[in-house]
Amino acid sequence: VPTAGFVGWRGMVGSVLMQRMQDEGDFGLINPVFFSTSNAGGAAPSFAEGAGFLQDAYDIQTLAKLPIIVTTQGGDYTSEVYPKLRDAGWDGLWIDAASTLRMDDSAIIVLDPVNRDVIDAGLARGVKNFVGGNCTVSCMLMGLGGLFRNGLVEWGTSMTYQAASGGGARHMRELLNQFGSLNSAVAANLADPASAILEIDRAVLAQQKDPSMDSSQFGVPLAGSVIPWIDADLGNGQSKEEWKGGAETNKILGLGSDSGRIPFDGLCVRIGAMRSHSQALTLKLTEDLSVAEIERIIDADNQWAKVVPNTKEATMEHLTPVAVTGTLDIPVGRIRKLEMGPEYISAFTIGDQLLWGAAEPLRRMLRIATG
Ligand code: HSE
Repeated sequence: VPTAGFVGWRGMVGSVLMQRMQDEGDFGLINPVFFSTSNAGGAAPSFAEGAGFLQDAYDIQTLAKLPIIVTTQGGDYTSEVYPKLRDAGWDGLWIDAASTLRMDDSAIIVLDPVNRDVIDAGLARGVKNFVGGNCTVSCMLMGLGGLFRNGLVEWGTSMTYQAASGGGARHMRELLNQFGSLNSAVAANLADPASAILEIDRAVLAQQKDPSMDSSQFGVPLAGSVIPWIDADLGNGQSKEEWKGGAETNKILGLGSDSGRIPFDGLCVRIGAMRSHSQALTLKLTEDLSVAEIERIIDADNQWAKVVPNTKEATMEHLTPVAVTGTLDIPVGRIRKLEMGPEYISAFTIGDQLLWGAAEPLRRMLRIATG
């Protein structure tokens, strides 16, 4: 039974990963060793029988004994520990959720329903670093992989509606606290059906602008607002999240500048959803396919992509973050031809940012690596 070490398993992404591994019986196939950055010597989690004690996540010697390390501890941990491990001669598999090594030539971005061929070729030539993709990119490719993988996309643009969870657990709490404080500010007026809505609106705005409302995680209020910037400012007008869209999409698909890179760009926007990322896509296809054919290709690509009929009723029932959260489904709806011409289509897709957007590709990579 192969041994695998886990770092960051208690965090938000790590907890989702642990739950998925239990649901799928993965712990029966490996011998897990759990690490901690703060509680070495403590008891390992009870869901993995006989895992003993927590090991020190900064102890290079102990880490270096493992053939596989899976980390959801975050980018700072990767930056600090990963180079030391390789310097110490470790040649095990590093499976990581953080973006630190993602675009490195030494790493493959894992999303096996979309790029199993790239992963297998990498394993065969001795690649050791396997990194989960950016959540928006992974969810988009799980939904629209059929079109991309069949060479049907000439270019694409994605306008995102990203959930609070992409920032982290504290961001989710902040959003909910903001919702609560907005409600508190107007609760009395709201309870009175005769109260004036414009007065309520003024009180909400005053509360949003009140420095006492905590916006320390997002920087500005998100509840009742949107923030059209995610991640670093690259200084060229593009956010890092937007850059990832094009860079990672092409890397996952195994396309480079010399082999049919697909132009892919758009704006990334934070909204007040909890943990499912949505995105509105405009694609220029390489040919004039019927909507029925497009839907067939999307549906047939993998078992999780699900076409939602382009009707108001189906959209409202199946194509919202509320409908998707907690499931592995990637619904794709609002598919229609745009006025610009027969090759131009719209689509709207949603994915749970913690499942396909983070934990699931790592879980599946571990299975592939130990298979
Ligand atoms: N960068 C993403 C977000 C999270 O902020 O929504 C994970 O890829």
